[in-house]
Parts: sequence; structure tokens; C-alpha cells
Amino acid sequence: MIFRQLFDSVSSTYSYVLASRRGGEALIIDPVLEKVDRYLKLMEELDLKLVKAVDTHLHADHITGLGALRDRTRCVTVMGEQSKVDVVSMRVGEGDRLTVEGLSLDVFYTPGHTDDSYSFHMGDRVFTGDTLLIRGTGRTDFQNGDSRAQYESLQRLMRLPEETFVYPAHDYKGDMVSTIGEEKRYNPRLKVRNVEEYVELMANLHLPNPKMMDVAVPANMHQGLHQEEVARRGWAFSAADAMGLVGRHDVALIDLREKAERERTGAIPGSLHAPYPDLMDNIDEGGLIHELASSGKTVVFYCAFGERSAMAVQAAQDKGLASARHIEGGMAAWKKAGGATR
Ligand SMILES: [Fe+2]
Repeated sequence: MIFRQLFDSVSSTYSYVLASRRGGEALIIDPVLEKVDRYLKLMEELDLKLVKAVDTHLHADHITGLGALRDRTRCVTVMGEQSKVDVVSMRVGEGDRLTVEGLSLDVFYTPGHTDDSYSFHMGDRVFTGDTLLIRGTGRTDFQNGDSRAQYESLQRLMRLPEETFVYPAHDYKGDMVSTIGEEKRYNPRLKVRNVEEYVELMANLHLPNPKMMDVAVPANMHQGLHQEEVARRGWAFSAADAMGLVGRHDVALIDLREKAERERTGAIPGSLHAPYPDLMDNIDEGGLIHELASSGKTVVFYCAFGERSAMAVQAAQDKGLASARHIEGGMAAWKKAGGATR
């Protein structure tokens, strides 16, 4: 496995690159905007293809690199389903798996620091965001923080094997990694006897607001691609209009989502499954989607929220597939409009 821990000294943020092999797919956890060039250089050096950029939660202390990485690599942006961020390409929930080629992380919903905080567990390590820090825990006094919920989330993390490595989103002392056992024994925040003591402890921290908060939170809320731009060019169907496309012989509906998303949410009847990571192969000459478009069909992409499909329309148009369209707002809009699923 390829594993890199990267540091942003301005916000003391750790970001993590994971991949199963050189030349393979990679994901990055908690990228920082100012470091995007560095990440991309590293991807090039290690011959990796970035396919997913993930935030453990909505950050208040730095601007996320999600949007910039998506714009430069067409990667999928991922956050938890509770996130208030306008549009990310994929949302994960408790019990889901976050996957790239050769790697699979268990998704734990660990609210408390924020109501959209997640941890990701894989084998011998867990990425804890700001839920569990080294000898600390993330503050709970803003962003819908809840120390009661955090206590429960911490108990859950403490049930992982003691030798599990803990990789947090931040450290202000320079510590890079810990273990569950070590935190159990030496983390002062875990020395409380019960949830009431924890709530009391967290209520009396009196921390100043993070310096970047007023800038970072609003910026991080708006990561959406401009689906309006795709619509302005006449490449979008509203969900309501898209209903009239089902069953038409001159239309190919293409589902870009992953298998697990299809199983959870259902799919549009009669649509074909062509996962987004294979998009470039599919729209190249000889690819499935290229052939469908060449045979005179209107190719209509859709995904969960319209992000991946908007990127796909742009990529297909760039390849000369003039009939490429997408469903604005994706399956979320489709379901809201009362569209049937199978
Ligand atoms: Fe945070």
C-alpha cells in the first residue's frame, strides 16, 4: 500500500494519500486548498490517479482542497450525508464503504465535533478527523457540535483494537500518529468517568474561535460545480423533463454512480451502469458511450447530485459528443420530482 501523511503548517492539518499500488487509483483525506499543487505533484511522482477527495467534516480552520482537486483532476468529492456543503459528488453514511481500486475503508459516523463528522477505518488504522486527536478531542462548541454525541463517538472508536493506529486531521504539537490503546491510557479527555463529566469538561474549555473560521466555513459550504453553467449551455434536463426520456429508443440514460449507491437509492428504469471512474475510457473512441452517441442516441448522464454528471457532460462535449446531456441535481432531484426507480 502507498500511504503518505502530508502537513499544512498554517492550519496544522494532516492530509492523507492512500493507494493500493503505483500506477493505481488514489484517494486523499482532508486536503488543504493551498497544498493542492503539492498533492498533484506527488500523485505524478508516485504515478497515481486521484479518484476521490474526501473531507472528514466541514472544516472551520482551513479552506478545503476538494473543489480545486475536482476541477483539476475530475475526481469525485466525498463527504458525509449530513454535510450542509452545497454539492459534493458523493455522500457516504454509517456502514458504507469508501473504496478506490484495491482499498476499502469502513465509514463510521462519529458526530460531536460537528454534526457531519466521520471517521474512516481500514485494517490497522483509523482516520479520525477532529473526533479523536492525539491526547485531545475536537472542540464541540460550534458548527452544531455536541459533546454528548462526541462522547458516544469516542466510545465507539475506543472499541477498535488497541494497536489500531490513530491518524487525526490535526496536531498542534507535532505528534503524527498514536494508537487507540495509547489514547485510552493517556488522553486526558478520555479520563472522565461518564458522559456528564465529558459534557462538563468540554463546556469549560473557553477556546477562542479559529482564525480562519469566518472565511473557511462559508468557502467550504460552496464546493459545488456550476451546474448552472452546464444548464446555460443547454446540456441539462430538469428531473421533471428527464422523466419523459425513459423508454425512448433515441436516448441512452447512463448511471455514473457506484454499485453501492445504486443499491441504496435505486436507479432510473432502463438506464445503463457506467461508473464514473471509467468515464474517460467510455467516451473515447471505441468506448461504450462514444459508440452510443455515434449511433445517434442522446446520451444522458446522471449521478447522485448532478456533480459527476455535469463533469461527464463537459468531458464528453470536449471529446466531440455533442448529444451529451445530464440530469440536473441527479437522483436526489429525480426522487424529489417523483421519478420512478427500480
Ligand atoms: Fe474541524
